Amino acid sequence: MSQLTPLIAGNWKLNGTKSLLSEFAHVFNSINISNVDVLICPPSVYIDTLVQLNENTDSILKVGAQTVSEQISGAFTGEISVSMLKELQTEFVIVGHSERRAIFGETPELVAKKYQTTLMNQLTPILCTGETENDRNNNLTFDIVSRDIDAVINLTGIESFKDGIIAYEPVWAIGTGKSATPQQAQEVHHFIRNHLAKHNDEIAQGVRILYGGSVNEKNAAELFKQDDINGALVGGASLVSDKFMSICQHAQSSL
Ligand code: PGA
Repeated sequence: MSQLTPLIAGNWKLNGTKSLLSEFAHVFNSINISNVDVLICPPSVYIDTLVQLNENTDSILKVGAQTVSEQISGAFTGEISVSMLKELQTEFVIVGHSERRAIFGETPELVAKKYQTTLMNQLTPILCTGETENDRNNNLTFDIVSRDIDAVINLTGIESFKDGIIAYEPVWAIGTGKSATPQQAQEVHHFIRNHLAKHNDEIAQGVRILYGGSVNEKNAAELFKQDDINGALVGGASLVSDKFMSICQHAQSSL
């Protein structure tokens, strides 16, 4: 882990309840985890609940959304806009998670628009990218991550990574219990930083690159030892408060 403040982000996906959020706010209340940003991205209907819980406690949990519309407003039934998220005091938005790409057909260009819309409203986008097992077997890993990052650079310029975050999430590692090895993850994180550095070295050195894919309380410490890993995007283990806490503590110990 480099000097950048680590971010441990929990992506609850289509899981969780109000009472689980209360438990998290309680467990992360006045907790002594310093120099680590801790974020929960619950389903959007629970965002306001988390904000209220934070107001009533000293919970350190930051608030994020799992996706957002690329549209500002209008006739888009079922969508949620960035300004609505902002009104709820959401700080972060995950864009282009592999499930959104694979199940909901989000293209690199659409994801780039979501990234841009998020940034323009002063929220922090977390851009997800990662290869499938098939891509990896065909040596396409670097092509896939370049494609997703270049779609953002082409639309908004390299400067947009000054205030954004990248999450490298190999699809084959998500929800499978089969995390990338620390070396495999570091190799891709390093590639991503170098890729950004071709445009602007200072921005490349300043961007936080999270690893995601079966991160848990057992493998986190080794992952966080890697130079270019600046935290984690956690699915399954973010639904269990003591596991998520343990991952946050490993991030702190790695500093
Ligand atoms: P996982 O999910 O930790 O359950 O593998 C990670 C993610 O999808 O962000």
